[in-house]
Amino acid sequence: MCGIVGYIGNKDASPILLAGLKRLEYRGYDSYGFCFINEGKASLFKRVGKIERTEKEFVDCNFKGNLAICHSRWATTGLVTEENAHPHSDCKGEIFVVHNGIIENYKELRTKLINEGHVFKSETDTEVLAHLIEKHFDGVLEDAVRKALKEVRGTYGLAVVSTKDPDKLVAARLSSPLIIGVGVDELLVASDPSAIIARTRQIIILDDYEIAVLRKDGFNIFKEEVENKKQIETIEWDIEQAEKGGYEHFMLKEIMEEGNVIEDAIRGRMLKEEGLVKLGGLDSVEKELRDIEKIILIGCGTAHYACKVGEYMLEEYADIPAETDIGSEFRYRKPVVDKNTAAIFVSQSGETADTLAALKEMKEKGILTLGVTNVVGSSQSRETNAGVYTRSGPEIAVASTKALVGQLTTLAMITVYLGRQREMALVMGKRIVEELIKLPQLAETILKTREDIKKIAEKYKDYRDFWYIGRKYNFPVALEGALKLKEISYIHAEGAAGGELKHGPLALVDENCPTIAICPTDSVYEKMISNIEEVKARKGKVIAIATEGNEEIGKIADDVIYIPKTLEMLTPIISVIPLHLFAYYIASALGRDIDKPKNLAKSVTVE
Ligand code: AGP
Repeated sequence: MCGIVGYIGNKDASPILLAGLKRLEYRGYDSYGFCFINEGKASLFKRVGKIERTEKEFVDCNFKGNLAICHSRWATTGLVTEENAHPHSDCKGEIFVVHNGIIENYKELRTKLINEGHVFKSETDTEVLAHLIEKHFDGVLEDAVRKALKEVRGTYGLAVVSTKDPDKLVAARLSSPLIIGVGVDELLVASDPSAIIARTRQIIILDDYEIAVLRKDGFNIFKEEVENKKQIETIEWDIEQAEKGGYEHFMLKEIMEEGNVIEDAIRGRMLKEEGLVKLGGLDSVEKELRDIEKIILIGCGTAHYACKVGEYMLEEYADIPAETDIGSEFRYRKPVVDKNTAAIFVSQSGETADTLAALKEMKEKGILTLGVTNVVGSSQSRETNAGVYTRSGPEIAVASTKALVGQLTTLAMITVYLGRQREMALVMGKRIVEELIKLPQLAETILKTREDIKKIAEKYKDYRDFWYIGRKYNFPVALEGALKLKEISYIHAEGAAGGELKHGPLALVDENCPTIAICPTDSVYEKMISNIEEVKARKGKVIAIATEGNEEIGKIADDVIYIPKTLEMLTPIISVIPLHLFAYYIASALGRDIDKPKNLAKSVTVE
């Protein structure tokens, strides 16, 4: 997720864009860049790191020009370097592009363009767009953009300027948000309203496949070369709300992105007909992985729960013995490993000290190390031998939500990758891939029920103790649900394997201690029903997370939250969503500081 701002009007663009881009840094802050077009000449400024680090240097450049674009980057393809910072240009430095999204077929396009003589300066997918527009340019910038985009597979929010057509800014959108700000004698383009709200509250939301041409004297918006007359809307949000996409907290915004996170994680990686997944980050170790006979998964907190789900996935579907541990414990163990052991490290930030310490330990033993990481260029992504980025976008709230969904989706893909190297048949590989492709829509179905979940949460907000129970794939989900509730609402909550209730936890169950039972219709459903009955027999209230269509459950549970049916192995990816919403709405009802809960930090970089 990156930030884009563009300006065309009668004012100097520099201070307007700088203020707007700073508003978008929450979307990505690896690097940033500007391009100004002034009197037919282009001026470029790009730096690694946050704006604040080099803002004075930028201001001292005193860039002039009433036409400009700028970008703050959240790296997905290509490391965090100045060359990879946007804007990207064509061979001659006459066309400049800023982009938010993923160009799935960039490798083949890049090869083709290089063979046609184009010279690339970066390792990003975005630069392909600049050269494609150059290739198709025939005097009219929007026509070149339109032809270029017809060759592209993927997603984009795009702004383009050129010294060869210097009186316009062209913008285009497919799946990545982009809005037009309609000001007084000026027009802006931005990834979200927070960047332009200081200039205008009049916006036009671009729809997929629309191309906007902005000039000083007005604008036109086209879809398939036909002009679209669009409605101008007025934003009622204040700036802070705009940064949160109109939601009250980053945490809710990030939970609501969980369907998109699955979509982005699988994008360009699903080979449905072959029943395979394409994970470029594992190419370099593809052969070594064939000899792996044991996998240890290591993470902390929520990431560790992802590891525990991954353990079940790998054993059941890749026939690989697997175990998990938390980073802070693993580093003091004497693990039994050998050259056929691999370690998978799971981390949103890629900077968790306990996880990195365990990684260092494994590297010293010469074990193959893989990373499942969200932040590109983070320590974990650099220290592991190979890995897969989860592509979940920046996660701002301290409580990790969408990152977990990205981790689970990625571990499912790794399971297919390794399973198909082993005994997993084409049919099973295809079945899992088909289900993964459906998953974003299933997640959206759950997110649409958030008002119902809010009502249930408000019913239970005054309880002081909760149990979360689940079995097999949903045991780690129970642990995650309990962690989410306690870390943002400060209510005591514990997760347990359903079968463990009678070994102790049941002593705490009574009318004052509700139980959330994650019991989709799967191989352990009947056992979970027995656990629910154990709770009910002690007057405990039960909130069940159950599969759509299951009418039986309503007869024994006090409240039911339904989730759509999917493969048992993939259920955790969506069964966790209602638990994130439940925790959020209880904490919200209690007026907690949800995005920054007391005593906690987003990334625990100390041991
Ligand atoms: C999750 O809600 C917590 N904030 C915390 O447990 C977190 O998952 C843990 O610190 C690991 O962080 P990482 O994924 O960045 O390594």
